[in-house]
Amino acid sequence: MEFTLSNGRNIPCPGFGTFKTPDGNICIDSVREAIAAGYTHIDTAAVYGNERSVGEGVRQSGKSREELFITSKLWNTERGYDSTLRACEKTLKDLGTDYLDLYLIHWPANEMQFGSKATDINLDTWKAMERLADEGCVRSIGLSNFYASHMQPILASANIAPTVDQIEYHPGLLQEETIALCREHAILVEAWSPLGRGKLLEDSVLLKIASAHGKTTAQVLLRWCVQNDVLPLVKSVHAERIHQNLDFFDFTLSPSEMEETASLPEARYGSHPDTATF
Ligand SMILES: NC(=O)c1ccc[n+]([C@@H]2O[C@H](COP(=O)([O-])OP(=O)(O)OC[C@H]3O[C@@H](n4cnc5c(N)ncnc54)[C@H](OP(=O)(O)O)[C@@H]3O)[C@@H](O)[C@H]2O)c1
Repeated sequence: MEFTLSNGRNIPCPGFGTFKTPDGNICIDSVREAIAAGYTHIDTAAVYGNERSVGEGVRQSGKSREELFITSKLWNTERGYDSTLRACEKTLKDLGTDYLDLYLIHWPANEMQFGSKATDINLDTWKAMERLADEGCVRSIGLSNFYASHMQPILASANIAPTVDQIEYHPGLLQEETIALCREHAILVEAWSPLGRGKLLEDSVLLKIASAHGKTTAQVLLRWCVQNDVLPLVKSVHAERIHQNLDFFDFTLSPSEMEETASLPEARYGSHPDTATF
C-alpha cells in the first residue's frame, strides 16, 4: 500500500522503524530482513546512531536505491540554517546515499527551552530544509513531533509546505487537534510507536478484537492506523515479527471495533514536544 504526499510523490506503508535498534549486525540484519520481507520504506534518524548500519542493510538487500523510500531526521543539536545543511550532508554520507526520500525536523524547538526564540529557530531550520529540497538531495521535507501550535508559524510562511508530520499516535493518544490541522493542509500523518512500544499488545480489548479476526494485537493496531489514514512506522528486530507486521491488509475492523480501539485509556510512551528538554 502507498499514500501519496501533497507534492505528488508516493510513500510506502507501513514504514520499518529503527529506533533503539542497536548499531552493527542487529541493525544490518533487521533492515536486510525487512526489505526481503517486503518493506520498501525505512525510517531512521541521526540520533539513533545507526545510519551507517541502515545503509549497509539497504546495500545488502540488493534492491536498487530507487526501489526504496528512506527517511531520516535532523537532530535537535543541529537546528538552525547552516547546521541543518551540514547535518543532512553527514546523514547522506553515513547512509551512503546521495538523496533522502524524506527529511524531517525531529523535534520543534520549544518555548520551555528557548523562550521567544523558539519560533525563529524553527523557521530558520525550515528555510534550510527548503534549500535541501530545492537542491534535490532531499525529495520531500516534513516535520516530526510538531503539534498544531508548533506547525502554525511554518505553515504561515513556508515556500515549500511540509508533506509529513510524524507524531506519537496509537489508541490512548489520538492527537485530534494536530491531525485536524494536518488534514487541512494535506500533510500526511505518520504514527510513531503505533504498538505503544509493545506495551499495548496485551490489552484485553485488543486481544478480543484480534482473536475475532484470527490476527495479532500488533496487526490490529497497524490496521487501526491505516483505517484512520495514518501511516504507521513499526520496529522489530525479530524476523517473525517483521513479517507479521506487514500482514494486516487482509481484514477490516468494523466501525464499532475502530471505536472500541480508539476508546482505550489515555497513554503516552514518549516525551511531549512542549516539555522535552533534549
Ligand atoms: N519521530 C520520533 O520522535 C520517533 C519516536 C519514536 C519512534 N519513531 C519511529 O517510529 C518507529 C516505531 O516506533 P517504536 O520503535 O517506538 O515502537 P513500536 O514500533 O510501537 O514498538 C516496537 C516494540 O514492539 C516490539 N514489537 C514489534 N512488533 C511486535 C510484534 N508483532 N509482537 C510483539 N512485539 C512486537 C519490538 O520488539 P522487538 O524489536 O524486540 O521485536 C519493540 O520493543 C521507530 O522505530 C522509529 O523509526 C520516531
